[in-house]
Amino acid sequence: MAETDPAREAERIARFITEQTAVTSTALLPELRLHLATEITPLWQASEAYLAQHGAPPPFWAFAWAGGQALARHVLDHPAIVAGRRVLDFACGSGLVAIAAARAGALRVRATDVDPFAVVATLRNASLNEVVVDADASDVLSNDTLDDDVEVILAGDVCYEHAMATRVTPWLRAQARAGKTVLVGDPGRAYLVTGADLEPLARYEVPVSDDVEGASLSVASVFRLRA
Ligand SMILES: C[S@@+](CC[C@H](N)C(=O)[O-])C[C@H]1O[C@@H](n2cnc3c(N)ncnc32)[C@H](O)[C@@H]1O
Repeated sequence: MAETDPAREAERIARFITEQTAVTSTALLPELRLHLATEITPLWQASEAYLAQHGAPPPFWAFAWAGGQALARHVLDHPAIVAGRRVLDFACGSGLVAIAAARAGALRVRATDVDPFAVVATLRNASLNEVVVDADASDVLSNDTLDDDVEVILAGDVCYEHAMATRVTPWLRAQARAGKTVLVGDPGRAYLVTGADLEPLARYEVPVSDDVEGASLSVASVFRLRA
């Protein structure tokens, strides 16, 4: 059940995250530590009914999605993309891309996700990795809450369903036209933005879970959305 007091609700979510995940690293991002669902954590097998009992939406934040892993790897290996710049990690999930940007020397990192569990997970994961990330649950697609001074927008695995892809694509394109650097990490999802403005930058082989992705290896690409 959700609490009405925001501070107590954040504590309740933090407890849930600690109890339901393990601190681990992925093969592609050995330098980052994240609270994630693994085969040995109860969350891996949790049914929707169990999650509903705990007032929890599907736990996207408890997995390091292949698109986000590729984007985080790219940012860590090419720090000039973010160094000294103001960065937004859109749809942050566990916050892995935001954390990579902070590690790579971003001046300021904001992470947003409409799921309050993702916001708390991102803050916890940032402190686990000893970096500072601001995280909030505003829906920047629907309202005007994007700070004008954001210079780089990073979006990991955001085209995972049709409704989200059709909302996010025009928004990302508008941000690119407004002069922001927009990078997308994607493992070949069916709803990925297509078009001549999508410039491939890099490809990564990402070990993933068969249970989650239906394969043990995913090839994920990093694209720049050109203005
Ligand atoms: C597949 S997960 C990717 C998470 C993370 N970027 C990664 O790569 O691991 C997609 C995320 O999009 C978030 N999301 C869905 N709609 C959103 C919106 N309108 N604004 C921000 N985040 C949203 C979900 O809550 C979820 O955490």
